[in-house]
Amino acid sequence: MFAEGIKVAPSLLSADFGRLREEVRRIEEAGADWVHLDIMDGSFVPAITIGPPVLQALRPHTDLLFDAHLMVVQPEKHLEAFARAGADLITVHAEASAHLDGVLREIRKLGLKAGAALNPATPPEVLDYVWPLLDLVLVMSVNPGAGGQAFIPEMLPKIEALSRKIRQLGRPVELSVDGGINAQTAAPVIAAGATALVAGSAVFGDPGGMELIRAFKTEGGPRRKV
Ligand code: DX5
Ligand code: ZN
Repeated sequence: MFAEGIKVAPSLLSADFGRLREEVRRIEEAGADWVHLDIMDGSFVPAITIGPPVLQALRPHTDLLFDAHLMVVQPEKHLEAFARAGADLITVHAEASAHLDGVLREIRKLGLKAGAALNPATPPEVLDYVWPLLDLVLVMSVNPGAGGQAFIPEMLPKIEALSRKIRQLGRPVELSVDGGINAQTAAPVIAAGATALVAGSAVFGDPGGMELIRAFKTEGGPRRKV
């Protein structure tokens, strides 16, 4: 499932919600690897976004991997619904469940890839005893809840530390970074060891945003050599 090189996962949060099917087609044509779906429940974060019916409606229209980022409390209650709706990878927040180990095992039992997301203040050590259960770690480089926020630079050493840890493990775990990724921040994030980039407003909010997808994959973005 996880190819070599930098994967780009545009976040539909910044897409036109009235034309989601076309937006998915646009990112597919622009070279996206995954579709990042931000699920917010109004409790773990204040906003409410989308749920399984939206994934299900989009599923027949693309073969791209569905990367479901659950910003919800008690994610264990919803895993089966997201699996049935067509998620390929489910990422839950380490802070959202009292039973991270159990939730990750449940995701894998459903036949899906499992990820853990870490809020900016959450240290990498919370993953110390669940590494064998992880296919992906999602470093939040903004506080979750909204698109269009500024990248938090203090996350760079955290990405480096996680990248080192994953190299030591010797098995493939994707290191994805979510929040404030744009033409300026992509290069340092890749240099720190990220293998996947989530980008919402930079891709959907700017006229040339779609071109960034391939730029991220080839050279980390236009500013990489500056
Ligand atoms: C934030 C979400 C992100 C968001 C990223 O809570 O998890 O996926 O869409 O948006 P940008 O790229 O605009 O920071
Ligand atoms: Zn996200």
